[in-house]
Amino acid sequence: MCGIVGVTGVGDALPYLLQGLQKLEYRGYDSAGVYLSDASGKDALIKEKGRVSKLAEKAIAETKGFKGTAGIAHTRWATHGNVTVENAHPQKSADNRFFLVHNGVIENYKELTDTYLQGVHFVSETDTEVAVQLVDKFSKDGMATPDAFRKMISLLDGNSAYGFLLVDHEDPETLYVAKKKSPLLVGVSDHGNAVTSDAAAMIDLTKDFIELRDGDIAIVKPKSVTIYDEAGEQVNREPFTLEIDPEDTDKGAYPYYMLKEIDEQAVVARNIAGHYYDDEGNLQGIAPEITDAIKKADRLYIVAAGTSYHAGLIGKRYFEQWAKIPTEVHIASEFAYDQPMLSDKPFFIFLSQSGETADSREVLDNVKKQGFPALTLANVMNSTLTREADFALPVLAGPEIAVASTKAYTAQVLVQAILASALGNPGFDLKAELAKVAVEIQAITDEKESFKKIAESALKNQHSAFYIGRGLDAAVALEAALKLKEISYIQTEGFAAGELKHGTISLIEDGTPVFALLTQKKTAGLLRGEVAQVAARGANTIVFASESLAKDGDAYVLPEVNELLMPLLAVIPAQLIAYYATLDRGLDVDRPRNLAKSVTVQ
Ligand code: M6R
Repeated sequence: MCGIVGVTGVGDALPYLLQGLQKLEYRGYDSAGVYLSDASGKDALIKEKGRVSKLAEKAIAETKGFKGTAGIAHTRWATHGNVTVENAHPQKSADNRFFLVHNGVIENYKELTDTYLQGVHFVSETDTEVAVQLVDKFSKDGMATPDAFRKMISLLDGNSAYGFLLVDHEDPETLYVAKKKSPLLVGVSDHGNAVTSDAAAMIDLTKDFIELRDGDIAIVKPKSVTIYDEAGEQVNREPFTLEIDPEDTDKGAYPYYMLKEIDEQAVVARNIAGHYYDDEGNLQGIAPEITDAIKKADRLYIVAAGTSYHAGLIGKRYFEQWAKIPTEVHIASEFAYDQPMLSDKPFFIFLSQSGETADSREVLDNVKKQGFPALTLANVMNSTLTREADFALPVLAGPEIAVASTKAYTAQVLVQAILASALGNPGFDLKAELAKVAVEIQAITDEKESFKKIAESALKNQHSAFYIGRGLDAAVALEAALKLKEISYIQTEGFAAGELKHGTISLIEDGTPVFALLTQKKTAGLLRGEVAQVAARGANTIVFASESLAKDGDAYVLPEVNELLMPLLAVIPAQLIAYYATLDRGLDVDRPRNLAKSVTVQ
């Protein structure tokens, strides 16, 4: 959570910082702030509640005539302290000398305050202010700024994940950077250097980035970058060149990223096939070490959160049915503190869009300590989960910016299918079927108007809704419900349809929207029965059925692909319905309240 960006040695820092913050807004958007300085010592601190656009207006107005050549900025997802201007970052020391932005949580901030900062006047309720006041204290005790910064870091509780960026007003073009289990990159160019939580936020300045490792401290100046590792040794880390088209991170003509990302799913499916199959249709890109390690396991444990967890529920079917390996799927935040009894030879698969989810990282830490092998399937490669697992495979959805995950879900399902097919025989030509999936995803996304109409008629003024299904459709129903509730705020439950009569059916009232996903032949008859049962109690039933199972009166007929791949199609109407219902309510589709894209705190 929280996005950090900093630049130094650029002619005019503010536009870089504001543009960077816009791109980092997916990491949190409760409040934002910027600190600017120039070599002469002139400076400005501007903070604002709400979105980056509000900060931008204020910052541009308040800095007229002043061009900072260096600066740091932050977009916040509140952890300690309410959403207020005082709690927004940058936080500053009492004497206005040090300014700091922070991503993470300082678990022992109270102890540090009691031990070192008695009598210091705090203006915010944040743990971050403790960090900046500590640097100030150690500096007043006679330490040089790098030492004071290092000492502050050394006092943090060992569990604290952090990214820090500090400016000392007495040396205003130097940025002090520290990173542990929170992504932070240094961007290098011959017209200034940068620090950022996500490379995409700085591509207007450079495409060359140095990836900091956990425990690193970096000193970034206009023309130099010096990095020290955890042991305090100076190290040389080679930059990599980011292969990203700036247009990938732009909305283009789309009103919202979510719609763009829904539309990209057909292309993503083709890209994944292009990556994992050669021209002759042979699998490629999955190292034999990975399949060998998985084949040695007697059970797979898929661990993930949110949408990625839902993708894992689909993947389970492929690993069990094709690879014949028993597979369990677990919610990371539960597994981390209540580890179930494991099999003799477990193998862990972590699924994650961001590769930074703190709950999953906690589990990975635990399983590594126990010596179990792990593979991460992530959309963001070079992320913590990909680096720290034994193996990693790319999910290849491309940058996903909207908080509501769409293309990363389909990509995770696709890559799991391909991986499972590398372990066992699906019994059909998966590559050919995936080509069909891409065509049909395209066909469904081309019918936006139908889903807009359904969303507007079925969900107008509704405060609750249901998605039901059986088998794989029950798993898709969970994802469909999450999509609708997280952005439209309509309380939606995803349900295994057979469970309705065991309690939940009492919630059905006149007009309650019940969406039924009907793509699995074995249970189609039962599901039709459940649709009739809720209709008899007044529900407004909206059925999305695959072609061979469709009946008159169904709201939409899904094109047919292999039944096990139907989740890839069944989820698309649900994504579009969530999008249009949210738009109809006048809400911000891409930035739902209280959420952040990358959940880097537990
Ligand atoms: O980056 P991850 O896939 O690990 O994130 C896990 C969840 O936070 C995420 O899937 C979340 O549920 C979605 N953004 C919801 O659309």
